Amino acid sequence: MNMKQVKIFDTTLRDGEQGPGCQLTLNYKLEIAEKLDAMGVDVIEAGFPISSPGDFKAVTEVCKLVKKATVCALARANRKDIEQASSALVKAKVARIQLGIGTSDIHIKHKFNTTREVILAKAYEMVAYASDKCDEVQFFAEDAGRADNDFLVQMTNTVVEAGAKVVNLPDTNGFCTPFEYFEKIAYVNQNRREKENAILSVHCHNDLGMATANSIAGLMAGALQVEGTINGVGERAGNAALEEIILTLIVKENLGIATGIDPKYIVELSSMVERAMSNPVQANKAIVGKNAFAHSSGIHQDGVLKDRRNYEIIDPQIIGGKLPELFLSARSGRAALKDRLKSMKIDFPAEHFENIYNRFLVLADQKRLIEDNDLRSLI
Ligand code: KIV
Ligand code: ZN
Repeated sequence: MNMKQVKIFDTTLRDGEQGPGCQLTLNYKLEIAEKLDAMGVDVIEAGFPISSPGDFKAVTEVCKLVKKATVCALARANRKDIEQASSALVKAKVARIQLGIGTSDIHIKHKFNTTREVILAKAYEMVAYASDKCDEVQFFAEDAGRADNDFLVQMTNTVVEAGAKVVNLPDTNGFCTPFEYFEKIAYVNQNRREKENAILSVHCHNDLGMATANSIAGLMAGALQVEGTINGVGERAGNAALEEIILTLIVKENLGIATGIDPKYIVELSSMVERAMSNPVQANKAIVGKNAFAHSSGIHQDGVLKDRRNYEIIDPQIIGGKLPELFLSARSGRAALKDRLKSMKIDFPAEHFENIYNRFLVLADQKRLIEDNDLRSLI
């Protein structure tokens, strides 16, 4: 199958860090950036240099450390932000400034108290200004999720004419459903000019729990770059979780979309970000939650013991994880108990098994999970 190659843009260090209480130390930022680079992300958004001296320094240090990825810094649509971003990026192998402005009528009227025409002119002027100050300019049309699609086409044409190489159409407030977001990206992609000069990027937030689905919809609609964070950290309900997007593209090969990511770093990166942000990953979180590959009910355990493919669509070893354990609980069946006793090399007369199983159930009704030690005393 002819695969379409898309770029992965990581914003754990910028949008991810905007999650309440998720601020990172410089050392943690460098550790994470190094691992993201090794994993093969195409762009690392390292920070928002004008926001604080600490963030400025973090961007400069990430630039020195990163070997392959493009390093990006955020700016609002004003000269001072752009100048700071550009100075922080001087040591980058490839330096990108992402700058932008609100594009929904809500933002235009209630945040900037102005008109679409003024916003278009400002966007043109600032993209042209930034184009001289770094290798690549990415423009973000903030709140594109709620913006008028024809205005987004106009904005895309304007900023590409001014020199933008990437146009990011973020669902800033996590407002769209996958079908709406698909239609939006497809509409802008079909109706914009100068397609060969710039690509579209998708950046989704998770306010309605649809960030990953929306990101995939955006890629299917023609975007060639997707943005997200490790563990889905970020403002409010967070950003699209990169590990979910990457695994979806691997598992659903039929979508015909490939990335340059080596997924074996995912588990390690997830724990690194969890620790660095003191932000525990929920147990049932897709891909990286501690229960994401665990089986506990009798029906599923029996199926997995017969053939893992009965209840597993992902081999956790490809993301650097371990083969899942079969947890023993009051919902477990005979097959899982027998399997565990066998792996513990505990011998007993076969006619005793029903008795052992019944005692196991009595204990499991009192205790959520049965450990090996519990089984030894029970035997
Ligand atoms: O969600 C958003 O709109 C953003 C932009 C700064 C890209 O994070
Ligand atoms: Zn965002």
